[in-house]
Amino acid sequence: MIGKQSDIPVIKADYDGTRVIAAVPAGEIRKCVTQDGLALLKGAFPVDLLQTIRDGVFAWGQQCAPQRESNVSFHRIDERPPQSRTPHTFHAYNFQLRPGAIDAEMATLIRPVFSAMRDLQNAVAGTSAGFEPDANSRLMRPQVIQYPSGGGFFDEHVHPLEPQGVGLIVGLSEKGRDFKSGGTCFRVNGRNYSFEDTHAMGDIILFRFDLPHWITPIDDDEHLDWTRQAGRWTMVLPYY
Ligand SMILES: [Fe+2]
Repeated sequence: MIGKQSDIPVIKADYDGTRVIAAVPAGEIRKCVTQDGLALLKGAFPVDLLQTIRDGVFAWGQQCAPQRESNVSFHRIDERPPQSRTPHTFHAYNFQLRPGAIDAEMATLIRPVFSAMRDLQNAVAGTSAGFEPDANSRLMRPQVIQYPSGGGFFDEHVHPLEPQGVGLIVGLSEKGRDFKSGGTCFRVNGRNYSFEDTHAMGDIILFRFDLPHWITPIDDDEHLDWTRQAGRWTMVLPYY
C-alpha cells in the first residue's frame, strides 16, 4: 500500500468530491510523518478542479490591488521585502472563509478543496482546527501561493511544531508546463530531500511542521513579471 521514493513514503489518494481518501488510514500517515518527517499523497485532487481554482485566484489578483495586510481576504506581492526575517519572493493570496470576508463566488470556488485539506490535516495531526477562531483565537488560514517564474523563492526556515503539528502542501502546478525548474526542499536528520520532480499537480506533501524547508528559485533565468501566471503554485493551510 505504501511505496517508497528515495525513503519518502508515497501513498495513493483520491478525492470523492468532499474529502481526500488515502490508500492507508490517517493513523498510518501520521506514523509516517512522525517517523520519517515526510509523506507524499499522489493524485489527491483532480488537475482540472485545481486548474479552475488557480485561474480564478489569479484573475482575482489581477483585478484588485495587492495590499500589505487586511482583516478580510487579500493578496500580497512580496519581492525580497527588506523587513522580512526570511528572504522570499512570492505572490500570496490570503483567504478568510467566513461570510463577509470573501467574495461569495471565490468562497464557492475554493471552499471544497480547502475543506478537504482541513479534514485531512486534522485527521493526520490529531487537531480539531477550523476556519473560525477557536477558544485560543487560532484558526486555519487558507492560502494560495505563486512562486513566479523569474525567481520566486523562499529561503530556509522552520516553524514551531505546535499547534499545527503537520503541514500540507498541495501542488497546483506542473513542472515542464507551468515552470521549468525549482521546488520545495526539506531537511530530515541532516539529509536534504527535493520534491522538484515528484510534487505533481494534485499531489500533497505532508511534513512534520518543525522540519527545515525552503523553495529553490523558480526559473531564475526568466524575467520576473507579476502579471504572468507562470511559476510554481501551491495551496497551504497554516493554523495559528
Ligand atoms: Fe514554511
